[in-house]
Amino acid sequence: MRKLIVANWKMNKGIVQSQQFAEELREYTEKHKITHCEIVICPPYTSLEAVHRKLDGSSIAVGAQNVFYETSGAFTGEVSAGMLKSCGCEYVITGHSERRSYFHETDAIINKKVMAVLDEGLKPILCIGETLQEHEDKITEAVIEEQINHCLAHIDSDSVRNIVIAYEPVWAIGTGKNATPHQVEHAHNFIRRKIKKIYNEDVANNIRIIYGGSITPDNASDLFSSNTINGGLVGGASLELESFIQIINSAKK
Ligand code: 13P
Repeated sequence: MRKLIVANWKMNKGIVQSQQFAEELREYTEKHKITHCEIVICPPYTSLEAVHRKLDGSSIAVGAQNVFYETSGAFTGEVSAGMLKSCGCEYVITGHSERRSYFHETDAIINKKVMAVLDEGLKPILCIGETLQEHEDKITEAVIEEQINHCLAHIDSDSVRNIVIAYEPVWAIGTGKNATPHQVEHAHNFIRRKIKKIYNEDVANNIRIIYGGSITPDNASDLFSSNTINGGLVGGASLELESFIQIINSAKK
C-alpha cells in the first residue's frame, strides 16, 4: 500500500504563504518525480481554493481540517461538505482531538460529519486516540474501540473503504514526544482487528491507518518502515517546506 502523507497546517498560513508552499511543493514533486506516496495538504478554510488552484492537475490532493454535517441552512460560521468539494477538496479531517477538546465534538457529532463527507464522495480522515491520562491508565484499547464503534456507526462496508483512520494519541500531539513505532504498530493492529470484526477481512486489510503525533524528519523513517503504518498526519513539521519534504522522502522504501 502506498503511504499517505497528510499536512495538517491547523490555524496557520494566510493565502500568500499557502500558495507559495503549494507552488514550491508541486515544483519539487514534479522535478523529483515523487510517486512513492500520496500527499495531501490541509490548509485553513480560507486558503483551500487558492491551494487547490496551485495544485490542480498535480498528484497532490487538498483536504479540509473540519466540516459541518448539515448540507446548508442557518448555521452561521459553518461550512458543508458540498462547499468543501466545490473548493477542490478530496479529503476532510474529522474528529481531530483539538476539535474534540476545544469545540466539544463528541463521537456522535463526528459520526455525522463522517457520513456527510462520505455522502459528498469525499474521503474522511477520522482521527482517534487516547489522552495522556488514558494512556497512563492503560485503557488505550478500550478508548479507541469506543471511538471506532461510535464514529463508524451506520457506515457500511462499501463506504468505510473510503475512510482513512488516523491514530493520533493526544499525548503525542504537539509535544515533541512521538509514540514509538512499536506502540503505533500495537494500536494499528488493534484497530485493524476491530475493523475486521465490524466489517470483514478484506476491508480490514485495505483500510488505510496512518499515525499522527510529533512526526519529524528524525523519526519519520522509523515510523514509516513499518508495513502496519500506512502513512502520517503531520502538524508542526508540515509548516516548513524543507521538513515536510524530508518526511515525504522518509516514506520511500
Ligand atoms: P504535530 O505533528 O504538531 O504533533 O501535530 C499532529 C497533529 O495533530 C496532526 O493532525
